[in-house]
Amino acid sequence: MSVATNRVGLLPAAVRVVEVGPRDGLQNEPGSIPVATRVALIDRLASAGLSMVESGAFVSPKWVPQMAGTAEVLSAIARRPGTRFPVLVPNMKGLETALAYQQASGIALEEIAVFSAASEAFSLKNTHCTIDEGLARFAEVTRAALAQGWRVRGYVSVAFGCPYEGEVAAARVLDVTRRLLDLGCYEVSIGDTTGIGTAGSVHRLFDLLIAQVPAARLAGHFHDTWGQGLANTLAMLEHGVATVDASVAGLGGCPYSPGATGNVATEDVVWMLHGMGIETGVDFDRLVDAGCFISEALGRRTGSRAARARLAERERSQAPS
Ligand code: HMG
Ligand code: MG
Repeated sequence: MSVATNRVGLLPAAVRVVEVGPRDGLQNEPGSIPVATRVALIDRLASAGLSMVESGAFVSPKWVPQMAGTAEVLSAIARRPGTRFPVLVPNMKGLETALAYQQASGIALEEIAVFSAASEAFSLKNTHCTIDEGLARFAEVTRAALAQGWRVRGYVSVAFGCPYEGEVAAARVLDVTRRLLDLGCYEVSIGDTTGIGTAGSVHRLFDLLIAQVPAARLAGHFHDTWGQGLANTLAMLEHGVATVDASVAGLGGCPYSPGATGNVATEDVVWMLHGMGIETGVDFDRLVDAGCFISEALGRRTGSRAARARLAERERSQAPS
């Protein structure tokens, strides 16, 4: 018996992969990563063909010390035409830091990201304010960013479940998504912060979202804690949403989502998409090399299954016969 409508006909021909490893990944590391390592990672990711590499956050270093040095990172990375390097901005203080960076470096920032949540408890833990208070802050931040000619991307966290409140109503996710779009976000990324979603809940939520919001203004942000990241990505693509966030080597998590692991690995997403004949503009082998670089710097094995398979293949092909 079939339990879901086959939506394969709707799959997009090309997908934009938003690399979030240097921000979402590294923000969750126990120690802080030197600026030079962050820069080298971002440069490798951009030269692998990723057109968006989230590169840091102008958040409070008291709360997320790993993102300190974001201005230095932005000043040192190699700029490439067609590649954007957005950063998270939580409030006007972060926006002022962003403006000061732009003025001091003479390099246009181009894009920032603001982040809300679909549960009050998560909003309070993550940003010390209610959803309404956060959106009021972001109204001001977005207005100032748009006045600079920057693009603003939005996130809705805990869209599939909250580590503090449990179940989250889909209507709540839709409401926050709409409000972020109304503020002027060009796109809202739907965050499965805890990785609790499955293809079933992704279909249910995107069925609702797509009925109200154009697919081109949505993206998915799937943490892979429960091993569902690829399945969830595919389920979302079946709704015609063609932007997915991913983290090289599967780095990361969220400091305010206990036990959450990294986003679905970029290498795994790109391997799946290329295998399906979907274009990404990403060079898989260069991406694997970027993942090896950061995994070695962190002293651990890559979390990407596709990268591990490629590395094993490379080893076999180099072994004397
Ligand atoms: P607060 O403590 O409530 O703010 O933090 P405050 O206004 O009371 O200020 C307290 C201190 O922080 C002051 O310094 C401020 O100057 C300073 P003091 O006087 O004590 O020395 N401060 C700042 N410093 C630098 N940059 C700033 C800034 N703002 C205040 N922008 C705040 C409120 C939102 C700032 C804080 O809670 C914060 O920075 N939170 C960061 C949250 C964060 O980065 N979370 C992880 C990213 S979101 C995520 O991972 C989810 C996502 O991936 C999607 C998903 O997976 O769901 C996007
Ligand atoms: Mg995240």
